[in-house]
Amino acid sequence: MEPYLLFSRDTRSIVYNMQTKAVQRMLDFDYLSGREKPSVAAIVNPGNSGTHKAHWGKGEVLIPIYPTIQTATDANGDIDVMVNFASFRSAYATTKEALLNKQIRVVAVIAEGVPERKARELAHLSKKLKKIIIGPATVGAIGAGAFKVGNTGGTIENIREQKLYRRGSVGLVTKSGGLLNEMFNIVSHNTDGIFEGVAIGGDKYPGSSLIDHLLRYEANPKIKIMVALGELGGDEEYKVVEAVNKGLLTKPIVFWVMGTCSKMFPAGVQFGHAGAKAGAEAETADAKNKTLKKAGVIVPHSFDTLGEEIARTFIKLKDEGKITPIEEPRNVPNIPMDYADALKRGIIRKPTSFISTVADDRGEEVNYGGYPISEIVHSGGKIGDVISLLWFGRRFPKWATDFMEMALMIVADHGPAVSGAHNAIIASRAGKDLISCLCSGLLTIGPRFGGAIDDCAKYMSDAFRRGIVPRDFVKEMKDKNVKIPGIGHRVKSLENPDGRVTLLIEYARKNFPRTDLLDFALGVQTVTTQKKSNLILNVDGTIGVLMVDMLRGVGHYNDEEVRNIVNLGYLNGFFVLGRSIGLIGHALDQKRMGERLYRHPWEDILYMVERKE
Ligand code: ACO
Ligand code: LMR
Repeated sequence: MEPYLLFSRDTRSIVYNMQTKAVQRMLDFDYLSGREKPSVAAIVNPGNSGTHKAHWGKGEVLIPIYPTIQTATDANGDIDVMVNFASFRSAYATTKEALLNKQIRVVAVIAEGVPERKARELAHLSKKLKKIIIGPATVGAIGAGAFKVGNTGGTIENIREQKLYRRGSVGLVTKSGGLLNEMFNIVSHNTDGIFEGVAIGGDKYPGSSLIDHLLRYEANPKIKIMVALGELGGDEEYKVVEAVNKGLLTKPIVFWVMGTCSKMFPAGVQFGHAGAKAGAEAETADAKNKTLKKAGVIVPHSFDTLGEEIARTFIKLKDEGKITPIEEPRNVPNIPMDYADALKRGIIRKPTSFISTVADDRGEEVNYGGYPISEIVHSGGKIGDVISLLWFGRRFPKWATDFMEMALMIVADHGPAVSGAHNAIIASRAGKDLISCLCSGLLTIGPRFGGAIDDCAKYMSDAFRRGIVPRDFVKEMKDKNVKIPGIGHRVKSLENPDGRVTLLIEYARKNFPRTDLLDFALGVQTVTTQKKSNLILNVDGTIGVLMVDMLRGVGHYNDEEVRNIVNLGYLNGFFVLGRSIGLIGHALDQKRMGERLYRHPWEDILYMVERKE
């Protein structure tokens, strides 16, 4: 590549640090410019490897991530630019490393606040190695239609409007990164466009200076006009004057030095950039503009007429036949807008895929059923309130939330011998993790063990609604050959009553407005225990019928709605939730004791496998 060029359409780069938005902007620019390959060949994310997925037009590409600059260049022999997004703390070390890397030719340093001594050292090193630094404290540079550094040029709409996707005849250099974009705008409206634009950065000691870039533009036969925007402070502009006087810069230069208003302020006031401070008279914008003009540089009256001067210069060159008309590229592709962006701007819509009516996490704090959690906590809410909001979407009265909490406490555990706990224990002893042990226990819950709550509520409610008496209900179930869910227990009976059931009934009698279904279920128990004394209303059954009485009593639902809740399978949830506490306890208990793998003893199994000869 010619030494006067910063970038070509084949330039490939490293983006240092995970600046995924900047990477995307670079890739969108590439695509708009009709590049064949993305300009970002690698991302260096110190210490990490992997890939980053980015949009490439309508498709997607994977960009490799490397832990170091060296590994990135080793793996990609075509990399010769680094866009350095390292912080001001690490910008020096990483830029130095990039300069010393054999492949890298140009480094753009975005960070502001790189110590001046370090910046000078880097500038010196780059000159010695015949490499180029753009920055520090810069937005970067653009080779129109070729390569874009990071966020230079702003949005893709700007790039399109200013036709930065193809080369024009103007070489632009500014100190300020912010004004670079404004200058792209001015140049694109008054000429055939930009060939290359660079913001050298506002620091006192930039890695490359105005004159460095103007000399490159002078050497570039495609560049016909040079436009420069200087700043008060320093002596860079005098180097340009010197080069003009020596005949080193011969092409038309339109130049404006910003900061002419500084005369209204006391001497030494700093204007934005670290370097923008006029000490001596010669450092003022007025003095610089005057000297430039004297040397034959085109200097407008003010920044406002800069565009006019540029236009006049362009037309003159065109009339003289020095600028050939540009053939506009056909079919400049469209870059699809990012979905999230379009959504934010309200210009697209799509039907949602999910609906949630119980919780909203989008604000500063999550809310349950419309109540921020802080409000629930501060108003003395407990787990019963959380269940009423998250499961039922409304706030139940205290007698109901207390009852739900009591149900959870009561079913939390029933010792290590019951089916669920046993499975959790076996899983724990097999070395499974806590969640697997819990799931093993939970998966045991079913029609015979802990999972009879829904069906008990269903059958008993149905019988109660039909107005049949308990005896007929028991007969009906027997005729259907269905064991009544919620009736019967392996060890509890009339002689050995289940204390948990007593507690639940006592509470309901005292606090519920009505207990119609409980009364019906106890009528069923009277019939079934006449057959066998263990055919009592068990803990599942009691919870089932009392939950129905509770739902009827809270005043939010009619009978149809209560039936619907039961049919949806809400009520087994109380056993699942409560028993999880015990299952976790058992799983951890085994781990704490370091219990070994369980193997069931042979003598406890009746083997009836016939031996075949
Ligand atoms: N409805 C009607 N009759 C029953 C019921 C019932 N729910 N349960 C048992 N019987 C009858 C049986 O048909 C059998 O009668 P038979 O002697 O004429 O054949 C007799 O009572 C004994 O039955 P078993 O199945 O041997 O009783 P077991 O003590 O083994 O079963 C169990 C206990 C599994 C709880 C059983 O009663 C049952 O299936 N109940 C319904 C499901 C239920 O509520 N499970 C939850 C229990 S509580 C908990 O897990 C937290
Ligand atoms: C339980 O709470 O786990 C039970 O009532 C079941 C049982 O077997 O005791």
